[in-house]
Amino acid sequence: MLKVAIIGAGAISTSHIEAYLQFPERCQIVAISDIYVDKAQERIDHYGLKAKAVKDYKELLTAEIDLVSICTPPYTHASLAVEFMEANTHVMVEKPMASSLEECDMMNDASRRTGKLLSVVAQNRFKTPMMKMKSVLESGLMGKILHVQVDSFWWRGYSYYDLWWRGTWEKEGGGPTLNHAVHHIDALLWMMGSPSEVQAFMSNVAHDNAEVEDLSIGLLRYANGSLGQLTSSVVHHGEEQQLIFQGAKARVSTPWKVKASNSKSNGFPEPNPELESQLQAYYDVLPEVAYEGHAGQIDNVLTAIETGSPLLIDGISGRQTLEFITAIYKSASTGQLVKFPIGPEDAFYTREGVQANATHFYEKKKSIENFAATTITTGSTYK
Ligand SMILES: NC(=O)c1ccc[n+]([C@@H]2O[C@H](COP(=O)([O-])OP(=O)(O)OC[C@H]3O[C@@H](n4cnc5c(N)ncnc54)[C@H](O)[C@@H]3O)[C@@H](O)[C@H]2O)c1
Repeated sequence: MLKVAIIGAGAISTSHIEAYLQFPERCQIVAISDIYVDKAQERIDHYGLKAKAVKDYKELLTAEIDLVSICTPPYTHASLAVEFMEANTHVMVEKPMASSLEECDMMNDASRRTGKLLSVVAQNRFKTPMMKMKSVLESGLMGKILHVQVDSFWWRGYSYYDLWWRGTWEKEGGGPTLNHAVHHIDALLWMMGSPSEVQAFMSNVAHDNAEVEDLSIGLLRYANGSLGQLTSSVVHHGEEQQLIFQGAKARVSTPWKVKASNSKSNGFPEPNPELESQLQAYYDVLPEVAYEGHAGQIDNVLTAIETGSPLLIDGISGRQTLEFITAIYKSASTGQLVKFPIGPEDAFYTREGVQANATHFYEKKKSIENFAATTITTGSTYK
């Protein structure tokens, strides 16, 4: 029975608690820590857990904790993850992995040094439409992918940035490119690999109470000549999130839709129902995921601890996602075309470097400790 602790008893902690509770034979939540210890106690009482509430997470560095879920604001992720791995504890850290590439490298070094697992949350991969899309792309049925369009459309009201750690380059580390599109960037890199170059714009169009962007557009070029475009936003009503892949032979997307064209003799399109049916049949027989979202990723982490099998989303993958996000911030802030890889010599490699060089849009106007409303939404089901 693996002993689990949760650090940070805020909005996303409930997804972790509910996911761990799906595996009562395999793990037990023994502690929850929050600097507002009453929040930790409230979670324990709400779920009837046999766990202790702890104000200072350091108390748990000496305890025999097998696995910790880090559910605190982004600026704390790196130091907490490193401390727990060094205390012999496997780590599952919420997205974004950290707010700089330097911190990601420190976390991956700690994982290598200690032999402890480091998994970065990207729960959307554990959703049936995403898993199916990955298989469809691997089938090759669509031919070479020529263009990818990623719409990471979210909507957050003005007060969203009033929470104490949000809206600053120092503590949140960025706007929706880092904190919302991170899900779709993870999926994009998983499905398409890394582009070779990025050119981006960003702006703050509706939240003059935040230093960070609320809208960005990145243009991507792949080594094989294919192009992509990614919009990261918290100003899109309806939050219609999608990934659209245009192959040489067919178009597929998440949420699922398939279209295929043949060429008439004059080059104009006519439908290709045979290929559409073939792709549909391929999609239909692919399996559903056994556990959705956070439960899927926690099952993957527990299995890795129990059997030594590989993690689906490790710190290397988390770093690639942050490297892509850093490229968007660098390009949008400097006007430069950014090429990969981004290493220690880059001005945007460290957290201080991002803070000094990224565009500051507005000053944070308000800082509240906690919202009265505690329920949140975490994006599309892609159905
Ligand atoms: N995977 C997802 O879909 C998803 C959704 C929302 C948030 N998140 C991520 O989860 C993290 C937390 O976000 P949230 O919305 O739950 O924020 P939140 O503010 O609701 O909760 C964070 C909690 O961490 C506590 N905390 C801060 N520093 C701490 C420390 N040193 N020790 C113990 N507790 C500490 C705070 O008091 C707060 O209760 C962020 O990284 C965020 O990006 C992920």
